Amino acid sequence: MKHILSAGQFNKALIEKILESAGKMEKALSKGKVPQKLAGKIVACLFFEPSTRTRLSFETAALRLGGQVIDMENGSVSSSAFKGESISDTTKIVSGFADLIVMRHPQDGFAELAAAVSPVPVINAGDGGNQHPTQSLLDLYTIKKEAGRLRDLTFAMVGDLLYGRTIHSTLTMLSLYPGNKFIFVAPKQLKLPQKYKDLLKKRKNSFVETEDLAEGLKQADVVYMTRVQKERFSSKAEYEKLKLAYVFDKKALRQIKKSAVILHALPRVGEIAEEVDKDPRAAYFRQAKNGLYVRMALLEYALGM
Ligand code: NCD
Repeated sequence: MKHILSAGQFNKALIEKILESAGKMEKALSKGKVPQKLAGKIVACLFFEPSTRTRLSFETAALRLGGQVIDMENGSVSSSAFKGESISDTTKIVSGFADLIVMRHPQDGFAELAAAVSPVPVINAGDGGNQHPTQSLLDLYTIKKEAGRLRDLTFAMVGDLLYGRTIHSTLTMLSLYPGNKFIFVAPKQLKLPQKYKDLLKKRKNSFVETEDLAEGLKQADVVYMTRVQKERFSSKAEYEKLKLAYVFDKKALRQIKKSAVILHALPRVGEIAEEVDKDPRAAYFRQAKNGLYVRMALLEYALGM
């Protein structure tokens, strides 16, 4: 049994193993022949924050593999958390019912707190502004498929780099690969936390920080757009000021390379114009679909199959 808590626990060999297994899942699904390895297993989805893709793809993954799902969709108000129950107590209870827990929580570090008391694997489906490791694995799966490789790439990461947990975990995984360079495009209020810059320095990945979107766009092999994370702001006015700091539109399409790949973990709320969707370089809907294959692979991995 293995917990999946942060991108830092993955090395290249493990990433490759998960991506390979996800590829097999994609094939098996296309043939309609998925090994029912989760038959008799119950997956609990405990979500204390809104989700569309992550929760539904985890649930679909469990069902496709023959497992069953119990679900807490709106945990902050629908569960005993509302009455004040601690995350440790909730985890102790649910781990007595289910074989694996998928958890999303608004507070940083809560997946780790849950894992510390859980006799069954805990998968972090996003903890506050901290980490979102399963999103990162589907990001890497998509990059490999769309760009053909995971190394020697230039990434423009754009938007909310302070609170964007997908950025934090995805750059951590990408920094394992030689030759990867990063251009961080963010307003000064939403710059990447220092600890990630320290990691890149340690791993000798070069990076620059800028507020100029055009600078990032022209060099990027992969453009990774993000939503400004409204729910992490204490001031609504500050959010309103920053929410559309960068918009990727038709004009941006003319600035990027012919071979570039455009990613976004989604949901988007205006930072990618809909007019971009029909461009073949817009990969974000394919990216979301890849989440299913990767999460099927992760359920098997976490359960030690
Ligand atoms: C992301 C998240 O929850 O961090 N969404 C997702 O899981 N696909 C990104 C976001 O909400 O902006």
